[in-house]
Amino acid sequence: MIHGVSDRRFNTKYIKDKLRQYKFNVANTDKSVVQFDLGLLAEATHKHVGATMEAKRGAGLVFINCMEKLTMNGPRETLRVRMKAAMDAGIDGITLAAGLHLGSFALIEDHPRFRDVKLGIIVSSLRALQLFIKKSARTGRLPDYVVVEGPLAGGHLGFGMDWESYDLATIVTEIRDWLTSEKLNIPLLPAGGIFTGSDAVRFLEMGAAGVQVATRFTVTNECGLPADVKQEYFKTSEDNIEVNHISPTGYPMRMLKNSPAIGDGIRPNCEAFGYLLDAGGNCQYIEAYNREVAAHPLERKVKVLDKTCLCTHMRNFDCWTCGHTAYRLKDTSHQSADGSYQLLTAEHVFQDYQFSTDDQVALPA
Ligand SMILES: Cc1cc2nc3c(=O)[nH]c(=O)nc-3n(C[C@H](O)[C@H](O)[C@H](O)COP(=O)(O)O)c2cc1C
Repeated sequence: MIHGVSDRRFNTKYIKDKLRQYKFNVANTDKSVVQFDLGLLAEATHKHVGATMEAKRGAGLVFINCMEKLTMNGPRETLRVRMKAAMDAGIDGITLAAGLHLGSFALIEDHPRFRDVKLGIIVSSLRALQLFIKKSARTGRLPDYVVVEGPLAGGHLGFGMDWESYDLATIVTEIRDWLTSEKLNIPLLPAGGIFTGSDAVRFLEMGAAGVQVATRFTVTNECGLPADVKQEYFKTSEDNIEVNHISPTGYPMRMLKNSPAIGDGIRPNCEAFGYLLDAGGNCQYIEAYNREVAAHPLERKVKVLDKTCLCTHMRNFDCWTCGHTAYRLKDTSHQSADGSYQLLTAEHVFQDYQFSTDDQVALPA
């Protein structure tokens, strides 16, 4: 949600300006007129990626995660602009996530950096990988890496509500064996529930090139969540973590049950945000909200239990997405007498992943 990121980071006014432009439509249930200005989308992406690349030090690479389900009332054009602007601004790599569009490589094949930028995809099954490779074969380009996301990952899941019947190690093994049989040498990065360095080593021993981790970094200083929300992550128990269907993307999503986003019936804010509007200007939350308003015409504020306004709640840090292992975060730090937990540094967590043994977690100094 690059406009919000830019507004916070550079004091731009993309969201305010978009709301001003479409203010006339706020009370209208039809959001199809709310379009993203592709020039401004490129500008905001360029600002964020460019400043990040300028700040980069050392030999590491910087990648951007491109959620394809942010369809922005124009799925192909907005995705193309987001990817091209990131490449223009010097990004080292792009990971295509949530909603993986089989034609994504083709959208950028005319870009001068198409063959030098690292392009990775996130899949949750061998079948999804096979389909992607088949559909993008025409571009003569394979993914440079594949993130294999299992059922314990944070946020949107590439599984149904039967996610519990899947297991990351099994999926990684299937994909590894298929790649070997096809003589395809693509690095695999398992993700989802890798909580200790020992967990990571088990995947490296299976042939993974690395791992992707997230949940352990939610309680670091560097994580963008507000401080009080980080304490919610520390405090959470296993039975406070659920996979539900409230995301308007249609994908199951894992989050803390006490997320303020759950059950909130805010009026859709598509004129300001609108990232999830599909090609026809629809979003499952708008439908759910309109249904509740029609059913309770006298209520000042309705409750919407089955969907959430993800754009608004993500922006306000009210949708607390987390991996299944979030309930173990309390074991990674010290608790003070007042009940709060000591925040960690990203460096500490990173080193713990690299150097811990025997499934131990090192506490901060
Ligand atoms: C707070 C949070 C936000 C996330 N947001 C995204 C996202 O925007 N796009 C995405 O592809 N994955 C997202 N993920 C999933 C992670 O990238 C990652 O693959 C997965 O959570 C790794 O598992 P772990 O959290 O158990 O370490 C998110 C995960 C967390 C915990």
